[in-house]
Amino acid sequence: MTEDLVRELELLREFGFTHLDISGGPPSSAAAAEDRGAPQSDLLAELQAVVTVCEKCRLSKSRTQVVYGVGSPNADLMFIGEAPGREEDIQGEPFVGRAGQLLTDVIKAMKLTRDDVYIANVIKCRPPENRNPEQDELDACRPYIRRQVEIIQPKVIVTLGRFALQSLLEKSYAISSVRGQWLDYNGIKVMPTYHPAYLLRNPAAKKEVWADMKKVIAELERSASDSKDGRPRSE
Ligand code: URA
Ligand code: SF4
Repeated sequence: MTEDLVRELELLREFGFTHLDISGGPPSSAAAAEDRGAPQSDLLAELQAVVTVCEKCRLSKSRTQVVYGVGSPNADLMFIGEAPGREEDIQGEPFVGRAGQLLTDVIKAMKLTRDDVYIANVIKCRPPENRNPEQDELDACRPYIRRQVEIIQPKVIVTLGRFALQSLLEKSYAISSVRGQWLDYNGIKVMPTYHPAYLLRNPAAKKEVWADMKKVIAELERSASDSKDGRPRSE
């Protein structure tokens, strides 16, 4: 019990909570972290309770609601975008606007559905007028996406656009030079590709994204057959 409480407090501190209001308490209490072997869905829900009331950056002031993430808690494939837009802010779900429709089409083209994968953003609250996220906002929100990855343990992550990649890996890249090349995040393969909003403006770049997705499909097939053979998943 004490151990669980300590772990819960560590988790909250990692997310930037420096003090606890014990009168109301944080929305996720020690009970949520009680089982170390808790299913991923419980762990995601526990984190969601924290993120839903987050006020760590100025974007909390202008949001309608937090856009946490959707999909399968044990997805092999995770898509990570930038930040909610207008539709996402209204509906509370990532990638449901025009760019989202394009992403959904990409997922379908991979012979998957939105329920098979997990979709989230590196910024959980809509920036006003869809402006670019600022560095301190990316820093404040980063622990959440990293924890989502840690819980879900996907085999492959696809980052959409420059901010998703830069924030997850905390490193600056020129997207045009790294897209299509495998990168690594804590032993998980990362495929950087263009953001679907960019594809709306530059439809010709769709073929590059599709080439990247073919690499992703091949990697998912490879890791699935490895695990069937009982071989370890990396190598
Ligand atoms: N663009 C993003 O990066 N994320 C969304 O959820 C919607 C649009
Ligand atoms: Fe918190 Fe992230 Fe929203 Fe900022 S963008 S208030 S860090 S959830």
